[in-house]
Formats: sequence, structure tokens, C-alpha cells
Amino acid sequence: MQDIGKANLRKVAVIGCGFVGSASAFALMQSGLFSEMVLIDADMDKAQGEALDISHGVPLARPINIYGGNYDDIVDAAIIIITAGANQKPGETRLDLVKKNVNIYKSIIPEIASRNCHGTILVVSNPVDILTYTALKISGFPKNRVIGSGTVLDTSRLKHELGKHLSVDSRSIHAFIIGEHGDSEIAAFSSANVSGIPVNEFCELRGFYHHEKSTREIAEKVKNSAYEIIEKKHATYYGIAMAVKRICEAILRDEKSILPVSSYMDGAYGIHDVVLSMPAIVGKDGVEMQVPISLDDQEIERLKESAETLKKVIQGIEF
Ligand code: 2OP
Repeated sequence: MQDIGKANLRKVAVIGCGFVGSASAFALMQSGLFSEMVLIDADMDKAQGEALDISHGVPLARPINIYGGNYDDIVDAAIIIITAGANQKPGETRLDLVKKNVNIYKSIIPEIASRNCHGTILVVSNPVDILTYTALKISGFPKNRVIGSGTVLDTSRLKHELGKHLSVDSRSIHAFIIGEHGDSEIAAFSSANVSGIPVNEFCELRGFYHHEKSTREIAEKVKNSAYEIIEKKHATYYGIAMAVKRICEAILRDEKSILPVSSYMDGAYGIHDVVLSMPAIVGKDGVEMQVPISLDDQEIERLKESAETLKKVIQGIEF
């Protein structure tokens, strides 16, 4: 049985040192949250090289010991972040990566499971919802301790776009993207608000009246953000690195922040046995509980469709 009380709260492990893993490690180094970070990669030189490069910024930030290591080094980590796997090429969807990355997880997760680790697994590789489910099934960890970065990034993208549109600080916006981190995701506009003012009312305060058109365009832009970035620079990594840092902060500091991480659905909205993103209270035990934000009928319908899309993919996997 995992028990975070036995983990070293100041230690984090990052498995996979590609663009996402190393950008996340860089963001974590700057955060000051940890005093020890082990980087692991199938290519040990790559892990050691990234560790060395990132370490050279430490005297300009806060003390932390960063090194390239192996699976024996993850045992006492409070958070085990997995970014390993192939990433999208231009024109590919996240779900197109499933076969390759599930196979990679089938070799990584048993390494974690066999070592009596006490921390929380944070899945970042794509398709994140499917891989979080895979990690949960293979690891035998409790459900609250296997979470995915989910739509934390998409939600940040939504706040960014809304903030620009309304010319207001994006941190004053409360809005969520829920469901799959991918093409079936849903922008939950019915509960979106700007410091308590329903988003449509706030739009009118700022002189915008074509709510349906604007919200549709913003949701599409958010959904297609990764495609746009991948088309232009072949990968996304800074945004997701900040999402990883934010989730680690909520866990490490036991903040009980409400974040739309991917977690196991156990009946909310009639959705069972699938992993997707819903706002959830995140603290030292990982996901404490999902928060059933109010959704309108159309959003609930689309959430169920998103769950079905993911379930169909899961049915094709042999665990
Ligand atoms: C992103 O949304 C590709 O999932 C990655 O940036």
C-alpha cells in the first residue's frame, strides 16, 4: 500500500527526458519545490546531459540536486512524473499514439510497481487519459495516486484566450476544459465566470454580444492549439511544463487546489471505468475528490461522448 508519509517530500522523479520531460524538469528546478530531482531516460547520456545542463542554472535559482539515474532512484520520490513516449507529428492526433505509448508504459509501469514506491504517479505522455488508465491498471496503485496532467493545459489555454478576448487578467477567470485531453474535449462555458460574473455577462460589460460565435471560436482555438504549435515548431513543451509544475505544487504543498487533472471516473454523470479530466481537489494524497461542477444538458451529453471515445480505445488494449 502506498503511503506518501514514507516518501521524501522533497524528491521528484522525471521519467522521459525529451522536450516535455526536460522542459518540466527545468520548470521544476526553478519552482524551488524540491531539493532532489532524478531524471531517467532510456538513453542515460541524455538524462545525464539534461541534468547537468539544468543544474548549471541552480546557483541562479534555489538549491536542488539534479542527476541522471535509474529506476532504483525513484523509490522514495513524492511524485513520479512520466513523460516518456512518442509525441505527435504534424497531422497526428493524440489517440494515434496509443499503440506505441501503451507498449512503452507496459515496460515502465512494472519498474515502478515492483519497487514499493510511496509517491503519486503523474502521467503526462499522450494520449494522457488512456495512459493514466494504463498506469492505474498495471501499477495496482490506489486510484487517487495515479493522475494525469489531463486538461490542466487546455484550461490554461482557455483562460489565456478568454483573458485576451475580454482584456482581463486570465487568473481572474474561472473556467474549465473537461473530458478527453484531445479532440473530444469540452469547454464548460455554462459555469464559466470572471470573478463570479457569468462569462456572457462579463462579455457584455466589455462590449461583446455574439456569445455563441465567440465561445465556439475560442473553444475551437483551444482544442486546436497543439495542432497549430506542432505544425509550426513540431512539438509543444513550455505550456505543459507549467501545467506539470502547477500540479506538483498542489500536491507537494497540500494546497487542495481545484485542477482539471485526469482521474478515474467512478460513476459521476453516469460515467464509469474510464479516466478523463474533471475538476478535482488536488493535495498531498493526489486526487482527494472530483468536483461536480454544474454542466448544462449539452455539456453532459458531450462529456458522455468523450468518455465513450476513450472507452472504445481502452477496449482495444490488452492489459
Ligand atoms: C499539448 O496539448 C501535445 O498534448 C500536448 O500541447
